[in-house]
Amino acid sequence: MNSTALIATADGPLGDDLLRLAAAAGASAEVVRQSAAARVGWRRPGLVLVGDDLADDLAGVPHRSDVVLVARAPDPDLYRRAVDVGAQQVAVLPADEPVVVDALAASAEPAGGEGVMVCVCGARGGAGTTVLAAALAMTAARDGTRTLLVDADPLGGGLDQMLGVEEDDGVRWAGLTERRGRLSASLLRESLPRVGALSVLTGDPGGPVPEAAASAVLDAAVRGYELTVVDVPRRPDLVGQTALRTAAVTFLLVPAEVRPTMAAARWAPELAELTADLRLVVGLPSPAGLTPDIVAECVALPAAGVLERDERLAVLTEDGDLERGLRRGPMRALCDYLLSEVPISVPSVQRRAA
Ligand SMILES: Nc1ncnc2c1ncn2[C@@H]1O[C@H](COP(=O)(O)OP(=O)(O)OP(=O)(O)O)[C@@H](O)[C@H]1O
Ligand SMILES: [Mg+2]
Repeated sequence: MNSTALIATADGPLGDDLLRLAAAAGASAEVVRQSAAARVGWRRPGLVLVGDDLADDLAGVPHRSDVVLVARAPDPDLYRRAVDVGAQQVAVLPADEPVVVDALAASAEPAGGEGVMVCVCGARGGAGTTVLAAALAMTAARDGTRTLLVDADPLGGGLDQMLGVEEDDGVRWAGLTERRGRLSASLLRESLPRVGALSVLTGDPGGPVPEAAASAVLDAAVRGYELTVVDVPRRPDLVGQTALRTAAVTFLLVPAEVRPTMAAARWAPELAELTADLRLVVGLPSPAGLTPDIVAECVALPAAGVLERDERLAVLTEDGDLERGLRRGPMRALCDYLLSEVPISVPSVQRRAA
């Protein structure tokens, strides 16, 4: 049996309902109708859902984690039966369907740790922040890292067009703003548009993303991807703020120009309060001759990298072909270098489950 969940019930409609919830959660599940069969398969799956009809027959089974007793109606003896089968949770359907879906979604996810989040912010509009975020994500995905690129600009950062996925009918932010609780990472991975190996979450959410949805989505992102790159706008909303708090590394792109450098000097301390590891990337050329060292001194951050303007890239991003723009040139070299300095660990269990 390779299912992630075992459903033990002789109640046909209950079994069907739980299989439906498993499908919604992206989990594979198997129904057994007899307590003897449930005892045989008891320890193997990540989750066991015990139907209330078989609870008495299964009393005294060996203790294990992740057991939920599922009933159709509350009754005074329910908690006694839950204790007898060693269940940690009781779910009364249909009201507790979300509890069951969360447990099923959790069982479908590979164990083995979380991925890394990286944020990219820019000190002025049009600095090339979105292109840098997309280029980092695309470079990592090309190198075999399971990667997600998230647009955290409430107005939409234009990534769909830049990556040429406008026509893809995968899920956008607007389809996720009602999310609450745990979102299945595998479900997220399957529903988002892709550019080659890279998944992307883009689009205008159609209003502010509620805190619960921002957390649910970003939490699923770090569980489902080895690397999540987030394009964070200059006035981050809840999605951007949550991403900054979650990120292992945040790159602040500052064009070597007087006003953006002064703006970055004011903003950097605020950002450094929010995010764990703030690193400076200096954009060149500089019309007034500011060197990366001068910018780094003003912003009071060491320069982690320098980004040279590349006219070829300007044309290719306008044409929705960033991928071609990364085959060679300064952006590719910068992304290779910046990613080599990010602690992307690849949990072995996630690799196997990919
Ligand atoms: N490294 C680069 N070399 C040349 N052109 C670039 C580079 N990066 C971005 N551009 C061009 O600059 C324009 C703005 O880029 P981008 O959308 O990445 O900026 P931004 O900082 O995200 O802007 P916004 O403030 O609107 O979010 C794009 O049209 C893109 O083609
Ligand atoms: Mg942008």
